[in-house]
Amino acid sequence: MKKTALASAFLFACTICTAQKENLPKTSAGFPVNYEEDSVGTYTLPALLTLQNGQPVTTAKIWKEKRRPELLQLFETIQYGKMPGKPAELHFDVFDKGTPAFNGKATRKQVTVYFTSDTAQYKMNILIYIPANAAKPVPLLLNVSFAANNQLTDDPGVKIGYTWTKEGKKMLADQPSRFPKMNIEQFMDAGIGFATINYVDIEPDFKGGIKYGIRGHYLKPGQTVPAADEWGAISAWAWGLSRAMDYFETDKQVDAKRIALQGASRLGKTVLWAGVHDGRFKMVIASISGEGGAAIARRNYGETIQHITDTSRYNYQFAANYHTYADKVNTLPFDAHMLVALMAPRPLLLQTGDTDYWSDPKGEFLSAQAAAPAYQLFGLKGPDATATMPAANDQSFLMNPLGYYMHAGPHTVLPEDWKLFITYMKKYL
Ligand code: GCU
Repeated sequence: MKKTALASAFLFACTICTAQKENLPKTSAGFPVNYEEDSVGTYTLPALLTLQNGQPVTTAKIWKEKRRPELLQLFETIQYGKMPGKPAELHFDVFDKGTPAFNGKATRKQVTVYFTSDTAQYKMNILIYIPANAAKPVPLLLNVSFAANNQLTDDPGVKIGYTWTKEGKKMLADQPSRFPKMNIEQFMDAGIGFATINYVDIEPDFKGGIKYGIRGHYLKPGQTVPAADEWGAISAWAWGLSRAMDYFETDKQVDAKRIALQGASRLGKTVLWAGVHDGRFKMVIASISGEGGAAIARRNYGETIQHITDTSRYNYQFAANYHTYADKVNTLPFDAHMLVALMAPRPLLLQTGDTDYWSDPKGEFLSAQAAAPAYQLFGLKGPDATATMPAANDQSFLMNPLGYYMHAGPHTVLPEDWKLFITYMKKYL
């Protein structure tokens, strides 16, 4: 597939992603959108290394024991919403126990994760490939995808999944999707396992999707929506990834202490939050996560909290509290650099694209730079205070424990990006 076709295939519901700055919409949800660096506005980021009681955070120990819990709680209650723990009824059915795939290069496994005792509704399928020659438990990349598992590969043995229409109709995903297929064999060649989950198995992605998704199961009597500090859809998807981790902890072919998460766009936000929230994930690769992900919210550039949390757009993906900051972002008690910092000391790679103006690639770089002092507490490197924004394809900041890389191109993950992710995983996983 040609690169341009691949990129456009990935754009999904992203109506505002185009390489031509002048063609970008000037408004979203009725609010103006700025794409000019000199109109970003001035702001002061909340201090990363100061406790709520005013004391400075000077050691990794103080960070871990005091500052991290404070910040985690803010993101939980204001931005993504609190999620429940592991359900007692969680159980797994490994319905494909190990079938040779890719001409014998891999062993395929498929698992249904049942979230509750209602086995008809609340479940997700994990598709897993283990390098066939692995003599011991393998590290693994867990990808959360817009496509159904069977749509991601030509392997004919993959169980057909489902898609949803916005009207709430569940349909068999028996047609090719508009998302590119994954080159799964490259992971096998690198000795890394590969697993994928279609996020709509956990909860379909539209306003009202809660009715069909896992959050619906947890509504208390009389509740039709979660409380203002409870989970939006991103927390629901992140919760599902933690349930996949619960499964991997039982799979002897996988080294559950070496699992990297990867997702793009809203799923880049999802993996960032999942990794921050669940310390069992060793690494996160967050692609083009943008607003509500790694990009500084205080920058008025591309999408803002006002755009993303509008009820006509993606309000349902966040805790209801987040929307209350739509017109007063400067009073938000945190910003995205703190989310990025919450991954420390675990490896985190932020991948962006130079023409993905909507997602504010510079806002993600500044976020990494402002988060680096948390990594430094552990003796680890990120872009330091004197660093300047790298040009497209410049790999200077890629191979750090807190890594940043911007490809030349739009809102997508390019085949070349996957190659770099594998290099990154080989170094840090
Ligand atoms: C929209 C949305 C973004 C999101 C993207 C995607 O463009 O505004 O915040 O990241 O969709 O998920 O593709």
